[in-house]
Amino acid sequence: MRIIKAEDYYSMSRMAANIISAQIIMKPRCVLGLATGSTPLGIYSQLIEWYKKGDLDFSEVTSINLDEYKGLSGDNDQSYRYFMNTNFFDYINILKENTYVPNGLEEDSEKACREYNQIILQSGGVDLQLLGLGNNGHIGFNEPGEAFEKETHCVKLAESTVKANARFFADESLVPKEAYTMGIKSIMQAKKIVIVVNGEGKADIVKQAFFGPVTPKIPASVLQLHNDVTLVGDQEALKYIEGL
Ligand code: F6R
Repeated sequence: MRIIKAEDYYSMSRMAANIISAQIIMKPRCVLGLATGSTPLGIYSQLIEWYKKGDLDFSEVTSINLDEYKGLSGDNDQSYRYFMNTNFFDYINILKENTYVPNGLEEDSEKACREYNQIILQSGGVDLQLLGLGNNGHIGFNEPGEAFEKETHCVKLAESTVKANARFFADESLVPKEAYTMGIKSIMQAKKIVIVVNGEGKADIVKQAFFGPVTPKIPASVLQLHNDVTLVGDQEALKYIEGL
């Protein structure tokens, strides 16, 4: 695993955005696996800025997002589809029909997941997967204890995740309790993985996930077994990592 220590959130975002833009420049028709959450927001702003300057072209890029709440439509301002449109896709020249997010409105979980796995397969696989890290070590919505061998599936969210996400909803009772997510197996099949972390609140889980044992109790720990992972973090999130 390559570890890049950045001065602060802005510089972490720039460094991760640099890796993503290198991917697009080297392979314009690439497949990006994308994440929502607060950590990647700075990356998306940076990529938008470079696009506006004429340095990046997304016209041939396909994007496949990690996850979506079950039960929310893309128009709901708390859905991950809405997040991606309003924080990224609406500002770049990616073709909307080439952007994929699991279908939150599909009630038949098995169908929703089967179709999403098909989309990943037909795209030729993810070239670069961007990940954030949950406070309990989750990646996507793969909560502690999930089997490593799953592809896209429906999950019941851990109470800590519902609580962490409640800040985005008017009331905790409105936070969906289930989601569709790419599984660990899908994530591990990406050719390249970039995981971004910032803030002191992530310092402890960063140490456990990347310097402790590989265990389903900390889903992100499985990334230690992938052969092309780059961890980009700010000083606070990497404060327990020595020798950087
Ligand atoms: C988002 C996702 C989640 C987040 C994680 C960290 O699509 O799959 O795993 O990456 O919850 O969220 P933030 O960045 O808000 O700390």
